[in-house]
Amino acid sequence: MLELKVNGRSHQVDVEPDTPLLWAIRENVGLTGTKYGCGIAQCGACTVHVDGQPMRSCTLQVRDAVGKQITTIEGLASGGTLHPVQKAWVDHDVPQCGYCQSGMIMAVIALLKEKPKPTDADINEAITNICRCGTFQQVRAAIQEAAKA
Ligand code: FES
Ligand code: FES
Repeated sequence: MLELKVNGRSHQVDVEPDTPLLWAIRENVGLTGTKYGCGIAQCGACTVHVDGQPMRSCTLQVRDAVGKQITTIEGLASGGTLHPVQKAWVDHDVPQCGYCQSGMIMAVIALLKEKPKPTDADINEAITNICRCGTFQQVRAAIQEAAKA
């Protein structure tokens, strides 16, 4: 058994230490908001925060997340109040199919923590998540709104 701290709660997970964190989050902890896209750290659908840093959980082994604070999309809203980035997403109708959006939001929150007023170049550099629905324009607008919040 390994212990994972996810969204402020401890979970005992019965997995091999080299299991991708994504599987442990989805299958063992039961939080399915974080998605599997490519499995090779390219698309960003699986992005979570590990000790506040955006990480692609499809290629991070569980053993490397033990003892760290993991935050998933489910851990953002507090007491029914959306995180400002989630609210900007709603206001701008960003999601289409939605599949990439959990990872996108986690990446954006990490960007805004690092750079509260990001330029277009900052956004291009930090947000490498792939959206097959082409929501990039709305993503950019929502980032700028969240940056004003
Ligand atoms: S599923 Fe992890 S980056 Fe694509
Ligand atoms: S909203 Fe469909 S893949 Fe991004």
